[in-house]
Amino acid sequence: MRLVVTGGLGFIGSNFVRLVLRDRPDWQVTNLDLVTYAGNPANLRDVEGDPRYRFVRGDIAEPEDVAKALGEDVDAVVNFAAESHVDRSILSAAPFVRTNVVGTLVLLEAVRARAGCRMLHVSTDEVYGTLEPDEPAFTEATPLDPTSPYAASKASADLLALAFAKTHGVDVVVTRCSNNYGPFQFPEKLIPLMVTNAIDGRPLPIYGDGRQVRDWIHVEDHCAGILTALERGRAGRVYNFGGRSERQNIDIVHRIIAQVGARPELIQSVTDRPAHDRRYAIDPARAERELGWTARWAFEAGLEATVRWYAERGDWWRPVKDGSYRDFYQQWYEERAK
Ligand code: NAD
Ligand code: DAU
Repeated sequence: MRLVVTGGLGFIGSNFVRLVLRDRPDWQVTNLDLVTYAGNPANLRDVEGDPRYRFVRGDIAEPEDVAKALGEDVDAVVNFAAESHVDRSILSAAPFVRTNVVGTLVLLEAVRARAGCRMLHVSTDEVYGTLEPDEPAFTEATPLDPTSPYAASKASADLLALAFAKTHGVDVVVTRCSNNYGPFQFPEKLIPLMVTNAIDGRPLPIYGDGRQVRDWIHVEDHCAGILTALERGRAGRVYNFGGRSERQNIDIVHRIIAQVGARPELIQSVTDRPAHDRRYAIDPARAERELGWTARWAFEAGLEATVRWYAERGDWWRPVKDGSYRDFYQQWYEERAK
């Protein structure tokens, strides 16, 4: 199998590349990544010397970069590359449209031009919008109703992917997953932000009342699902992945505080995210039934292991937090803390 992964230097992409090289020893993996603020070469330092792995620096929205990575003999493309942070999409939506929408379109055209090539497009439960407390979890039939510019860009990409399957017969599978956590997640997202701030005794900024609900899944379970969908998913079909682990943000933060041994007074209620989705919940029954996939990590055990990883890997996250991320942090959080 000649596989191209895009966004392989990010959180989920790097975990996926490592899984493939471990569990599919005869696969060749090319990683096309622009190395944005979220793309970190340290995430895959351990596989850099592997002869089955090739890195191409480039932009999925540039057809020449995509052609260079795909070549003529490619069996499959898994698209992780994205602008992925909701808060940044509120500050500036244009990069989200360029990478998430135009970039996906460029990949679809490239796959369409290569007979026999399959594309798996990695999407999110955020395309479904928000749920009331008593509503059933999202299924693949739930109408798309995105709230943030990030979610709207991902919904647009999903629709393009599914339209290419219908119109051009392109072999595309779309996966939609709930909130991931685990090693190598950029510390702008809730869990690594809270863990690293708690370790340093810094404020823990909670949006609004902190009672929003997310449905957490360990990144290893998500990656296993993507690999299964790549190998066994039906063309033109959508598969939801989730960990059946709905939790309120504030309860997660209290757990992190307890494990790190930080002071609960670090919790700081800040101005809410505009149009903040109240609740996400995923029904992964189709993936379980049709792909034989199940999530293996229990949330509390996975969170504990993740907190331990960050406690041990200051060498990984301190340079990230000291870099350009500081500018975003100041711009976004100083206003909200007033
Ligand atoms: P991330 O922000 O950690 O990584 C994104 C990667 O894409 C980085 O390596 C970055 O350099 C690269 N990239 C960005 N723009 C690019 C471009 N134009 N060309 C090439 N590479 C580019 O993201 P993540 O959290 O690993 O998410 C990966 C995918 O999974 C995204 O598509 C996201 O929408 C989706 N997803 C994420 C979650 C989650 O909880 N993190 C849940 C469901 C779905
Ligand atoms: O649901 C899948 C999505 O999960 C992915 O598609 C996105 O790429 C990923 O970023 C994530 O989006 P969220 O907005 O749910 O994740 P985030 O970690 O930003 O926030 C999780 C919850 O925590 C949300 O309710 C907002 C809240 N939060 C977040 C931050 C960063 C806070 O209260 N304070 C914070 O500082």
